[in-house]
Amino acid sequence: MATVNLEHVTKIYEGKVEAVKDATLDIKDKEFIVLVGPSGCGKTTTLRMVAGLEEITKGTIRIGDRVVNDVEPKDRDIAMVFQNYALYPHMTVYQNMAFGLKLRKFPKHEIESRVREAARILNIEELLDRKPKQLSGGQRQRVAVGRAIVRNPKVFLFDEPLSNLDAKLRVQMRAELKKLHQRLETTAIYVTHDQVEAMTMGDRIVILRDGVIQQVGTPLEVYLHPGNRFVAGFIGSPPMNFIPATVISKNSAFWVKTSGFELKIPEDKVEKLGPYKDKEIIFGIRPENIYDKMFAVAAQKENTFKVKVDVVEPMGNEAYLHVLSGSDLITARVDFRTKASPGEEMDLVADMNLMHAFDKQTEKAIM
Ligand SMILES: Nc1ncnc2c1ncn2[C@@H]1O[C@H](COP(=O)(O)OP(=O)(O)OP(=O)(O)O)[C@@H](O)[C@H]1O
Ligand SMILES: [Mg+2]
Repeated sequence: MATVNLEHVTKIYEGKVEAVKDATLDIKDKEFIVLVGPSGCGKTTTLRMVAGLEEITKGTIRIGDRVVNDVEPKDRDIAMVFQNYALYPHMTVYQNMAFGLKLRKFPKHEIESRVREAARILNIEELLDRKPKQLSGGQRQRVAVGRAIVRNPKVFLFDEPLSNLDAKLRVQMRAELKKLHQRLETTAIYVTHDQVEAMTMGDRIVILRDGVIQQVGTPLEVYLHPGNRFVAGFIGSPPMNFIPATVISKNSAFWVKTSGFELKIPEDKVEKLGPYKDKEIIFGIRPENIYDKMFAVAAQKENTFKVKVDVVEPMGNEAYLHVLSGSDLITARVDFRTKASPGEEMDLVADMNLMHAFDKQTEKAIM
């Protein structure tokens, strides 16, 4: 069991590429933390620095109470599962899982009991004599995780371990890894570029962009209260709508005015938005917080606005509407019974209690 702390950690490759900038992060004991962000944002670099595979340019990394900046990877008590889990093709599953322990000169009976225990946990006992090429992708993935489990590490590091699997298997392995973590209670740092994986697996999520930590929080915190426009657009699918708007005051209330509508700002948000009166902001609203008026509850109907339907995407349990509101393109996730039809006008309703607003210049959340 261990905590992992990053203190002002910076990584500059070859004196010029600043891959990670001043990262400070406290990972709790037994926590499952997910680093998420687009390609090139510094996820792998961060993980490799924790593993000791990459030198730290500036800052301090601690595992437990120990500063590990100068500790060899093999002495850090961590186990890493890579994206291309590279099993040794000429070895059996058993030998693959035993290999790391053998290198570390563990006694044979200890290796045997650890491998069998890991195989039992991962449900691959009957595969121990097979070679990797005789396994499915999901089974190979389990062997790769098994290799890490047998080490009994203080910290697990996962670098996009599911990205080679097809969508269905990924969902299944996602649940399995989560179950595994609940069972082993080992601190885990998990890297992915997939926000759904991040949301579903993480106790907390760290959103990275261009080497800078944007926000750290539970899945619900970052979904409900994104700290800036980037996080707001990255977490959630389809992504939040961002619409250029002005805050106006009219009929003793405040309103969001865009090219297509004027919608009333709920009273509890006026304190934060009032200072933006007559100023431009970025109005944010998630597709799932916009309804087809025909299926909206009465209380929301005062927030109605007219749009022209561009595209209808039926998903079965719901439908995505891509509509034009004034000159703004908006996506709505509405009831599957919608009668929306391309080219026609319709009424949508926005749940303004769940609206977001971002400063136009800094792109930081206003509330
Ligand atoms: N060995 C290296 N030398 C120079 N630059 C590197 C090196 N490794 C990574 N970089 C650069 O550092 C930045 C961060 O890379 P990193 O691999 O950490 O990103 P990532 O978030 O893991 O991306 P991906 O999702 O594509 O795996 C990128 O700009 C990358 O080009
Ligand atoms: Mg990477």
